Amino acid sequence: MTVGIKLNYEVKDLALAAQGSQRIEWAGREMPVLKQIRQRFAQDRPLAGIRISACCHVTTETANLAIALKAGGADAVLIASNPLSTQDDVAAALVVDHGIAVFALKGEDTATYLRHVATALDHQPEIIIDDGSDVVATMIKERPELLTRLIGTTEETTTGIARLKAMLQGGVLTFPAIAVNDSETKHFFDNRYGTGQSTLDGVIRATNILLAGRVVVVAGYGWCGKGTASRARGMGARVIVTEINPVCALEATMDGFEVLPMAEAARVGDIFITVTGNKHVINREHFLAMKDGAIVCNSGHFDIEIDLVALGELSRDKRTVRPFVEEYILEDKSIMVLGQGRLINLAAAEGHPAAVMDMSFANQALAVEYLVIERGKLAPGIYNLPAYLDEQIAQLKLAAMGIQIDTLTPQQIHYMNSWDEGTS
Ligand code: ADE
Repeated sequence: MTVGIKLNYEVKDLALAAQGSQRIEWAGREMPVLKQIRQRFAQDRPLAGIRISACCHVTTETANLAIALKAGGADAVLIASNPLSTQDDVAAALVVDHGIAVFALKGEDTATYLRHVATALDHQPEIIIDDGSDVVATMIKERPELLTRLIGTTEETTTGIARLKAMLQGGVLTFPAIAVNDSETKHFFDNRYGTGQSTLDGVIRATNILLAGRVVVVAGYGWCGKGTASRARGMGARVIVTEINPVCALEATMDGFEVLPMAEAARVGDIFITVTGNKHVINREHFLAMKDGAIVCNSGHFDIEIDLVALGELSRDKRTVRPFVEEYILEDKSIMVLGQGRLINLAAAEGHPAAVMDMSFANQALAVEYLVIERGKLAPGIYNLPAYLDEQIAQLKLAAMGIQIDTLTPQQIHYMNSWDEGTS
């Protein structure tokens, strides 16, 4: 469909725009760092004419990023990075009130999702902002002729960076990619506090269950798992962690969590949350061991962590019992699956709160600007955003929060840079 002279889009209902704009503004209040970047972008126009295809969850926070990119002069197209995470009112508001081309519908099927990925590529992007690396992978596999005009890409997630590393290993990564997830001001906050809070928000909105006194099994103790486990404990749950990494398992143990193999945890858990980034972390054997009424959900990037095919095979029936809750009926029990095994925090809730996305998307905006500044100078590879920019984001966030810190004295700087002072 076309709006105005040439804006193409595919959203659910343009009449939702007013509500979407109000919500985008609300999120913007919590995003002071991105706001400052947007204001500078509007003045300096560092992205003038740059074609950007962004594949992100279409939320109020992403809308603020898209608006900042447009203020910087970018010609941006936005598609959804997950079939269930789109906020339809936000998509409408971006089209109607901001003239940004959006292709995203909450609940879109896989064919529609892939068609939107193709649309993002039809835009012939010079920069791709990816969340999970689907657009980049599709460009390499299906549209390699577009690689020549690509300045570079940015990646939001741990999962997407793992895919970029595999591309590098496989010799197909022919452009610079900025690993936004690896900035300290991204994963320390978004992955931990963002995922921690929004995952439980999704579980609670979907089920309205009391967490206090329940056994919550968290699969994976990376940054997202740490956040989820700590927030679940904070709400009174008894938390069990499962891991495959000995260091992470040790860390979980010393953080005071019980660590068990999933086969054992499956027998005692009331609520299972996967955040591993890996496949079939909950499998047939685990479903067979679970209690009647066990609740299973995923907060990792892709819907592959829970083997729903196996669960389907074990079930004699399935029904939707609440929005985002499907009851799989086995011979001797029911198992409840939330959000079709897709990211529960974005399927049933609104994703991470704006205050953490402020830093994540400040990183994205600065990463895009960095790629433009360094155009033609970065060899193919995976880069972190330079540390001085990461630190700048932390400084701006602290200032916005009204928090002051100390500075090193000249003597301290000297001490830090010398080796000859020891025991006095
Ligand atoms: N990923 C997790 N939470 C998000 C949000 N609120 N917006 C965009 N991407 C997200």
